[in-house]
Amino acid sequence: MDAHEWSPPAVRRAAGARSAEQLVFVREFLRAPLRTASVVPSSAALAERMVAPLLLRSPAQRAPVVLELGPGTGAFTAALHAAVPGMRYLGVEANPVMADHLAARFPGIDLVRGPASGFPGALAQRGLRTVDLVVSGLPWQAFAGPAGADLVPAIAAHLAPAGAHTQFTYSWSRWAPPGRRQHRALRRAFGRVDVSPTVWPNLPPAVVYTATRPRPGGDHAAATSSC
Ligand SMILES: C[S@@+](CC[C@H](N)C(=O)[O-])C[C@H]1O[C@@H](n2cnc3c(N)ncnc32)[C@H](O)[C@@H]1O
Repeated sequence: MDAHEWSPPAVRRAAGARSAEQLVFVREFLRAPLRTASVVPSSAALAERMVAPLLLRSPAQRAPVVLELGPGTGAFTAALHAAVPGMRYLGVEANPVMADHLAARFPGIDLVRGPASGFPGALAQRGLRTVDLVVSGLPWQAFAGPAGADLVPAIAAHLAPAGAHTQFTYSWSRWAPPGRRQHRALRRAFGRVDVSPTVWPNLPPAVVYTATRPRPGGDHAAATSSC
């Protein structure tokens, strides 16, 4: 880290940016609690877990295509850009306030303002046939209803065979019915679903599902799982 990043103005700017993000979260949570699903953005420790599959790629491989669903104010977006600055990024965010914040934080970012279920059309419009990593910060509510139920199979159908999909869930609610449904949906659509250890430095603590070996047809054989 450069010395100027620790200078008083730089530290003040970083602290100001963090408070602005937190304010957006609190306001949007009060307005739409189920869709926002958190009162604070995810931590850097959780972001590191979510983008980990990118770090396993060899530098000789082509620049990855990365799709982020529900980027919010950009906790994972920042980690993605830091991990692979040359990636082809596409974000899909339904909340216009979050989207405005993200666009201001990452000028020039390719961002679709709308529901995550619209991602196949957005990829097609851009001529992107497969994705190497799908990072999802989506809450349970996004997986409800007919469009939501199709989301996980659609992610598997658009993922490259060696690609990965990461989704986090809060540890305290992981065993509640919607959390179990989410895990089952991943196990149906992917040949392997790994569950990370609890990421304690996150509010609230969370685990990350990393789903690989997509089964685009959604065959119903049990996935290998570590949990
Ligand atoms: C728990 S926040 C996570 C934000 C960010 N990824 C983070 O971890 O700090 C959930 C995000 O998903 C967005 N969201 C909720 N439902 C959505 C949907 N159906 N389509 C796209 N985005 C959605 C919310 O607006 C919010 O930005």
